[in-house]
Amino acid sequence: MCGIAGYVGKDIVLPILIGALERLEYRGYDSAGVALIEDKKLIVEKRKGKIRELVKSLWGRNYGAKIGIGHTRWATHGKPTNENAHPHTDEKREFAVVHNGIIENYLELKEELLKEGVKFRSDTDTEVIAHLIARNYKGDLLEAVLDTVKKLKGAFAFAVITVHEPNRVVGVKNGSPLIVGIGEGENFLASDIPAILPYTKRIIVLDDGEIADITPQSVNVYNFNGEPISKDVMITPWDLVSAEKGGFKHFMLKEIYEQPKAVNDTIKGFLSTEDTIPFKLKDFRRVVIIACGTSYHAGLVGKYWIESFTGVPTEVVYASEFKYADIPISDKDLVIGISQSGETIDTKFALQFAKEKGAFTVGLVNVVGSAIDRESDFALYTHAGPEIGVAATKTFTAQLTVLYALAVRESGDRDNLIRLLEKVPSLMEITLNSSEEVEKVSDKYLKRKNFLYLGRYLNYPIALEGALKLKEISYIHAEGYPAGEMKHGPIALIDENMPTVLVAPQDRVYEKMLSNLEEILARKGTVVSVGLKGDKVLKEKSADFMEIPKVDEPITPFITVVPLQLFAYFIASKLGLDVDQPRNLAKTVTVE
Ligand code: M6R
Repeated sequence: MCGIAGYVGKDIVLPILIGALERLEYRGYDSAGVALIEDKKLIVEKRKGKIRELVKSLWGRNYGAKIGIGHTRWATHGKPTNENAHPHTDEKREFAVVHNGIIENYLELKEELLKEGVKFRSDTDTEVIAHLIARNYKGDLLEAVLDTVKKLKGAFAFAVITVHEPNRVVGVKNGSPLIVGIGEGENFLASDIPAILPYTKRIIVLDDGEIADITPQSVNVYNFNGEPISKDVMITPWDLVSAEKGGFKHFMLKEIYEQPKAVNDTIKGFLSTEDTIPFKLKDFRRVVIIACGTSYHAGLVGKYWIESFTGVPTEVVYASEFKYADIPISDKDLVIGISQSGETIDTKFALQFAKEKGAFTVGLVNVVGSAIDRESDFALYTHAGPEIGVAATKTFTAQLTVLYALAVRESGDRDNLIRLLEKVPSLMEITLNSSEEVEKVSDKYLKRKNFLYLGRYLNYPIALEGALKLKEISYIHAEGYPAGEMKHGPIALIDENMPTVLVAPQDRVYEKMLSNLEEILARKGTVVSVGLKGDKVLKEKSADFMEIPKVDEPITPFITVVPLQLFAYFIASKLGLDVDQPRNLAKTVTVE
């Protein structure tokens, strides 16, 4: 939900900001802009559309500015237009602001400013910040920001510069992410780590209610009362290579191929810290998993593992529903919030709510230092590296890895089950080696408008995940269903125009899946199946068969999901769609 970048230092700022915005573009991409200060004048350039549109508009301009802020937007207030693009300025164009999040009381503030005669240029909530800072400015940007944040309500982060102090960027964090990158004679602000990876690995993660005041030589952090705060500097394990495409056409494809490594690194990470986990699932009366989107699907698979390996009843709830549903929660419950980004606001709020009710909260995140990491009672990590494609892939299988390892830790057969998990990376490699077969299958389905995805037991959530991948990147309607439910409704949809993707490894529900297959064929439906190598029945009866290697039942979801990710990828890519930045979506959803 919007990416913010800021720089002050020894180098020319424009290419630094553009590079940072390109690495943040996954957060939002309906408009982009920069503000620079050169010769004590503010230069603002902003454009509707992707960052390439901004770059085109800047073509041939050689600015020498060494301070600036930039923004890539996912619209909340105001349509994506040049006027609504950030940065926003005050009336005299002396202050420029880039913002992520929502100022909930902006209408009230805007009313007051309008009464005072302020003229607004945009429909955004952000513009009030620029006007308020300008009005509060009495010679010290930090003071003006401190006076301004007291009036703002909502979850937000912003960065501001002013022509009056052309050596200073001030950043505020309150609910949306903001980090400081520490360089040599230069310092950075950004919404996320990949933005600044080419320049530094030394990072300060700001907490809510904190303000960073940066110059080329200094970084000072204050609370909203203006009191200085001492912060730890973290060294990020991520590197630039992991945040670049590395020869792949899209980040999504690269990330699908990175799954063996992501799972392997996550297994190692988990096993090396297993002894520090301060709880047992069995100590609780119930486990509640809260998450959104793909992370929710990982939670659904986790439920089967936790219940089967530990016997602890487990519920999986959409984070956006959790706190509104009167679910009884107490200190007898363990609540696990799963979030790749660690910043999804629904998940964050749901965890905060569970904590208030006395539950022990655990965050399962990919981003160290993210809000959910810091706010949970305990954090577990996936070690997938940065995921840039909006469609989650490698973080999903890394999440599965942690959930599986956590569950089997309390089973009587832990060592054998971990050995099974350790086979996953090589089984994934084998599956990825057959990507050409999946590509050929996908060629036949480019023109279909609707798909049904069916799976049962451990592979029911995989059917949901396969359908989500297809709809979010190809804009083809796809519905995931538990296969046993087909006869209770979706079967009415089956005809020659509606292909069904059947996830059917030879597990405890295989025979039932074959019955579904027959029922579909009897209604002239087309079946694309995912099944084990050597499954002659499935292969013969399906119109198309996507083969995976032989795999033991408990670990099937790790492998069955791979052809489904590839299938969605090839369809979207062949349709010429923007696979990494599908329309209307953002990688991290920081609004409710
Ligand atoms: O960062 P999170 O895991 O909390 O994100 C949750 C969802 O927004 C995310 O999984 C979303 O559904 C993806 N676009 C799925 O590919």
